[in-house]
Amino acid sequence: MKTTISVIKADIGSLAGHHVVHPDTMAAASKVLAEAKSQSLLIDYYITHVGDDLELIMTHTRGELDTKVHETAWNAFKEAAKVAKELGLYAAGQDLLSDSFSGNVRGLGPGVAEIEVEERPSEPIAIFMADKTEPGAFNLPLYKMFADPFNTPGLVIDPTMHNGFKFEVLDVYQGEAVVLNAPQELYDLLALIGTPSRYVIRRIYRSEDNLLGAVVSIERLNLIAGKYVGKDDPVTIVRLQHGLPALGEALEAFTLPHLVPGWMRGSHYGPLIPVSQRDARATRFDGPPRLIGLGFNVKNGKLVGPSDLFDDPAFDEVRRLANTITDYMRRHGPFMPHRLEPTEMEYTTLPIILEKLRSRFKKESDVYKVKESIYSKEKSGPSGD
Ligand code: 13P
Ligand code: 13P
Ligand code: MG
Ligand code: MG
Repeated sequence: MKTTISVIKADIGSLAGHHVVHPDTMAAASKVLAEAKSQSLLIDYYITHVGDDLELIMTHTRGELDTKVHETAWNAFKEAAKVAKELGLYAAGQDLLSDSFSGNVRGLGPGVAEIEVEERPSEPIAIFMADKTEPGAFNLPLYKMFADPFNTPGLVIDPTMHNGFKFEVLDVYQGEAVVLNAPQELYDLLALIGTPSRYVIRRIYRSEDNLLGAVVSIERLNLIAGKYVGKDDPVTIVRLQHGLPALGEALEAFTLPHLVPGWMRGSHYGPLIPVSQRDARATRFDGPPRLIGLGFNVKNGKLVGPSDLFDDPAFDEVRRLANTITDYMRRHGPFMPHRLEPTEMEYTTLPIILEKLRSRFKKESDVYKVKESIYSKEKSGPSGD
């Protein structure tokens, strides 16, 4: 029997701003999933949230992109959004970009990470879910988990892991994917995934036998909607142990609160802070970008667990560092590199402000000439005078 783990998430509205999912909306979603479970469409499910994102963790035997499972998730979001509207929650229905469902939720707003597995005798997994950032935020930690021996000693000492992993990287602007082998093509891989706004790790396979080890939700809402409607708060499912990263190796990858885009108005870089479920509420400056991790065992499709993985003093120093970085970044105010670069700001409301200023710009011929000469110098290269 093959088991599919589907994590489908959406922001359907939240309490007091882009802050936290309301329990009544979770209850509404839960009712829909309970019904699907009673009809044996789902084997099991677990509902949670990180910040204002409602996360549906579901197991079944129907494979990826299954119409019925996706429709169930869509209905759960719709029901939750209905309650959000009744309660007057903020941005009710935010991520539901369409009124109608057609086949699967891809392109309709929700984020999707799905993995179909032949269950191992013990099938440990971790699900990492983030708010106030985007899918490329997982590039760095996934690289560390599956390609960096300083993070994951299993790459050196476990014969099954020693042949490395294959990374499927998606160019979200072109809609093209490439598979790169680590460690053989490590530098090529880094050349791409170092630009996480464009190149996003989507799947990771074990080289030895093509076993699928991790999947990431790759939806970029702004690119779908063509305007800013919220960030694309991502999830990743990581399989663990026995020839894959140990749980502790997966968690070790989050000990650097690295800078990720998102945060306030989806327009700022900030540190990704790993928190417990209890603290999964966006607060300071609508953040800082938050990460939760839940550990499960999957047995015959049943979700055993979860364990709240960052609910641990061992992550206190990571959080302290994240808070120090938060102070430092915030002091830049509206200046880059705290504020995102212009290409990323295209999807915010900033272009409206810039457009208003356009008519007030007057041609300055001298300045233009200087600019042109700099440009031509660059074009001819350092020795091209
Ligand atoms: P397995 O390879 O059996 O998962 O054990 C590795 C481990 O847990 C090291 O911490
Ligand atoms: P979300 O993407 O989590 O909805 O946040 C939007 C926002 O603008 C936060 O300031
Ligand atoms: Mg929101
Ligand atoms: Mg969110």
